[in-house]
Amino acid sequence: MNTSISRRGFVGALGVAAGAGLPGLAATDPAGGKGTIKGQGTIKIVGVACSPRKGKTTAQGISICLEAAKAVDPQRIETELIDLADLDIPAYVVAKVPLKPGHRDDFPDVAAKLADANVAGIIVGSPVYFGNMTALCKAFLDRCGLFRAKQFALSGKVGGSLAVGGVRNGGQELVIQTINNVLMCHEMLIVGDGRPTAHWGATLWNNGTDDISTDEFGVATAKNLGRRVAEVALARFAPATAS
Ligand SMILES: Cc1cc2nc3c(=O)[nH]c(=O)nc-3n(C[C@H](O)[C@H](O)[C@H](O)COP(=O)(O)O)c2cc1C
Repeated sequence: MNTSISRRGFVGALGVAAGAGLPGLAATDPAGGKGTIKGQGTIKIVGVACSPRKGKTTAQGISICLEAAKAVDPQRIETELIDLADLDIPAYVVAKVPLKPGHRDDFPDVAAKLADANVAGIIVGSPVYFGNMTALCKAFLDRCGLFRAKQFALSGKVGGSLAVGGVRNGGQELVIQTINNVLMCHEMLIVGDGRPTAHWGATLWNNGTDDISTDEFGVATAKNLGRRVAEVALARFAPATAS
């Protein structure tokens, strides 16, 4: 990913989208999540994989979520995986500390994707690192504070979380709870994995093979999360018109 989108350009892009009255970025959601920013036609569900290892188990888990989301209504739902693995996202920039010499900042490019007015749902996934999200995930979420500062630009969008651990109960629920807490600070509407698993998000186990498909229960939670995010996002932003 290049660094061609400047920070100024990104902030400008947010302003343009909000000013245009597009469905996803209508500044705040005065109805408190009751549907004042419904759009027409297609919606987009974005999944963000926050492992430093490109295409590994977190990205696999997010892909499972996105496939399940797409399957809810293939005609009206687009999906996109954003894999942060190869990107540089310096956390300190959020504190208005200038980018240090020799450092690269890829966050504006990521933020521009999230600022797409069609984005109706965002799923954030992280590996469990010592019972917590990765530093990359925290840096990403800290930098997303820009949306909150920009009149809560993510308000009313549907959010969900996923975690992958190296053991079955290695802290996945701690991680998804912490991510969900951050998404709530944006006034996002948080959903968990839908029924029948129906808890707080997707909890996957990497049994050491780096192949998440063997974790039957975890895969079910990922599918149920993707489906749930899509169902709620569709109902909120692009409800089917009665015939
Ligand atoms: C520094 C570090 C700390 C880890 N801590 C935990 C942990 O607390 N609990 C756990 O279940 N797995 C832990 N793991 C294992 C990873 O969560 C697991 O391998 C995961 O599948 C990695 O995601 P990825 O394949 O997307 O990189 C840790 C791995 C690393 C490198």
